Amino acid sequence: MALVALGVCGGIGAYKSVEVARGLQKQGHDVIAVMTRAARKFVGTVTFEAITRHRVVTSQFEAGANSDIEHISLASSIDLLLVAPATANVIGKFANGIADDFLSSLYLATKAPVLMAPAMNTHMLEHDAVRRNLDVLAARGVRFVEPGAGYLACGWIGKGRLAEPGDIVSAVEQLLSPSGPLKGKRVVVTAGPTREALDPVRFIGNRSSGKMGYALAEAARRHGADVVLVAGPTERRPPSGVEVVHVSTATEMRDAVVARAAEADVVIMAAAVADYAPAEASAQKIHKDRDEMILKLVRTPDILAELGRARAGSGRPLLVGFAAETSDVVAQARKKLSAKAVDMIVANDVSRADAGFEVDNNEVTIVTQQGEETLPLQEKTAIASHVIERIATLLKSRITVSR
Ligand code: C5P
Repeated sequence: MALVALGVCGGIGAYKSVEVARGLQKQGHDVIAVMTRAARKFVGTVTFEAITRHRVVTSQFEAGANSDIEHISLASSIDLLLVAPATANVIGKFANGIADDFLSSLYLATKAPVLMAPAMNTHMLEHDAVRRNLDVLAARGVRFVEPGAGYLACGWIGKGRLAEPGDIVSAVEQLLSPSGPLKGKRVVVTAGPTREALDPVRFIGNRSSGKMGYALAEAARRHGADVVLVAGPTERRPPSGVEVVHVSTATEMRDAVVARAAEADVVIMAAAVADYAPAEASAQKIHKDRDEMILKLVRTPDILAELGRARAGSGRPLLVGFAAETSDVVAQARKKLSAKAVDMIVANDVSRADAGFEVDNNEVTIVTQQGEETLPLQEKTAIASHVIERIATLLKSRITVSR
């Protein structure tokens, strides 16, 4: 049983958080409702008080509330801060460290994990300011229950509706006690492209969208792992419950991965890492004052190969690479498996228009020492789940053998 502070903000979805409170109680959790001033315009405190059987926290300055500096004492006793619905206003306050009411002060004061279920008008959700605040919070480790699409109270049809109470309760359960074959395992996943600067405005990059790596991080989390996602530049929203480390160059990615590899049980290199970088980036913008330009490129560190060498003889962490090929896909993958001394290569043909780069689907062949398995064309999220399951099986067989 956990103690959950349920932050309720002033959105039309506030009435649904009554059901969230009940759902949490059904799972055996104790709930303390923290309502913002605007939330009380939508639902009365008595409703939450009757359901939670606790005094509802409404103000920092309420008589009696300061006998033990309540936001500090609640902050240190809760196991989770859940905010549902989370309005653009509260998201903005959390992102920017504004603490002008009980809920926003509680966010700053607590070390407990934070889960937010945003709900707002579609245009508000899409607004740059809101998206930036969400990104800031996500990078700080705040987890989200994605808003649903459908008919919104404001009349718009689009994304922004508060997630269903049942889904919010499941997300809480996942966060408090993720279960699954990777429970207790630390998984590092890399995703996206890298960028190698030519000058202050140009870089050498590639077409990786990060979809596959992000889907793998999400799937690993769903299977119970503690996940660190080392992400090259992409527009993607990080999955909930995952620590995100943003990097730009191959060298930065190498440093971020190597620093975490010794503690990791699994490293999955799904990123499309640049193989070559400009020997020297120009400090000033390069002007087109020549008819031709010859670029000198130098090799970047091969992160996966370095991890393969570093773990020689120990078999830990389990190493998984990706091979994006345009011909002889499986043969190339098998070559990489032994050249980089890794446990699994997930190979795909990036010359196809319907799979690989920048699309939602993929068809891959998983190559291990034991054999090959082709996963037919399907959504990258489904591929990710299969790959994670194969990794969990491989990991389990390792552990059994070494005992
Ligand atoms: O050798 P190749 O680049 O085709 O191998 C692809 C695999 O190696 C991918 O898993 C990729 O993330 C990883 N890689 C790496 N460091 C590089 C280049 C690729 O770890 N510099």
